[in-house]
Amino acid sequence: MADDLEYGPARADGEKDAVAEILCGAFNTTVEECGEWIDRAGIDQLRVIRPGGRVGGCLVLIPMGQWFGGRSVPMMGIAGVAIAPEHRGNRGAGGLMSSMLAEMYEKGQFLSTLYASTQPLYRRAGYEQAGTTFDILLATSQIDIRDRDLSVRPIGPEDDPAVAACYRQWAMRHDGSLDRRDYIWRRIRTPRKNTARGYLVEGPSGVEGFLYYMQVEAKGGRYSLKLTDVTSVTRSAARRLLTFLADHRSMAFRVQWQGGPADTLLTMLREQRSRMRLWEYWMLRIVDVAGALEARGYSADRGARVHFEVRDDVIPQNNGRFVLEVSDGRGKVSRGGDGRVGIDVRGLAAMYTGHWTAEQLRGRDYLEASAEDASAASAVFAGHAPFMSDRF
Ligand SMILES: CC(C)(COP(=O)(O)OP(=O)(O)OC[C@H]1O[C@@H](n2cnc3c(N)ncnc32)[C@H](O)[C@@H]1OP(=O)(O)O)[C@@H](O)C(=O)NCCC(=O)NCCS
Repeated sequence: MADDLEYGPARADGEKDAVAEILCGAFNTTVEECGEWIDRAGIDQLRVIRPGGRVGGCLVLIPMGQWFGGRSVPMMGIAGVAIAPEHRGNRGAGGLMSSMLAEMYEKGQFLSTLYASTQPLYRRAGYEQAGTTFDILLATSQIDIRDRDLSVRPIGPEDDPAVAACYRQWAMRHDGSLDRRDYIWRRIRTPRKNTARGYLVEGPSGVEGFLYYMQVEAKGGRYSLKLTDVTSVTRSAARRLLTFLADHRSMAFRVQWQGGPADTLLTMLREQRSRMRLWEYWMLRIVDVAGALEARGYSADRGARVHFEVRDDVIPQNNGRFVLEVSDGRGKVSRGGDGRVGIDVRGLAAMYTGHWTAEQLRGRDYLEASAEDASAASAVFAGHAPFMSDRF
């Protein structure tokens, strides 16, 4: 099937129902819910393949950005990859992904990120594990902070810009976090089948932290608090948010949120009484090598030059030699150089985010270089462990 795939945007007049039918069959939801999902994403963000002229598979594009080195890099999130059962096993999904990537390259997209239900499909398309998302679980009885210096109040619609500014201030310091657009904010504020309540913490400089929570029922009428987001940019705000959560402890036995391996709220607690479990490694694809390398930020004090020879089986324009020159926190890329660091585009994805070092990639056959060149490349991309606190 892959060779004769017709690929393109879904037609607004008549293909929405066919896509909703494929999505609900693939993800065990109702056709109505899938219709709502499509409306939230926008029908213009659907891409389909039409084996035999009819819709047989789809995916959803979610345009946003992702923060690396203090800069937001244009990134296309991918969700809802699904093939109708009768067309599975014919490389339809592989063809859908490579056609989508060709389109993204032509449109000037730099990165693409997704959560994978099966990795081989996406590895073949050039994606690789590039960061983590953890589930964090904390019993409310274990929150040992009581600090009400700052005030807390419900978030109203008029607060949205200040809340978004607070998130941005936090996100730009955390590699891998999303530069959110409406699609993600809607998931936080109005999650599927539930209502999120939002509260913000105000300090001398305005909004210093906020959270949105849902109540999830548990045995005996008690419940747990599921945070669809929690962010704080000052120590006082983090303490105030923890106090706010502890104030729910008579009925809410536990709080749950998503984050990375080093969590700001947890560091405030006196003891390590939380539980963390890896939810997933998300996967990232470098869609445009030169564009992506120039768009991210780098540690300001590192001046360096790396000579890459990139291999990419799916986007041919990425093949060849590139020189990355870093100074004053910015990267400049030119074609050419001596290609001392041979790298597969999947390895480059993992190194770009800081998830793996060049030395680790050598051990995985993703990179060929001398120990000295590998170590120099590692230094350029060094940062904290990248993570994402949003699912999509
Ligand atoms: C996963 C899915 C999209 C694959 O579609 P497909 O057209 O049959 O896939 P392809 O023929 O292009 O296969 C590509 C690779 O995906 C993997 N794959 C395919 N079907 C799979 C399945 N049902 N389960 C796990 N992995 C699968 C295989 O590794 C395959 O490569 P291989 O045959 O060399 O091992 C399809 O089974 C589906 O719609 N499943 C339900 C929804 C889903 O899981 N979507 C992915 C969300 S991230």
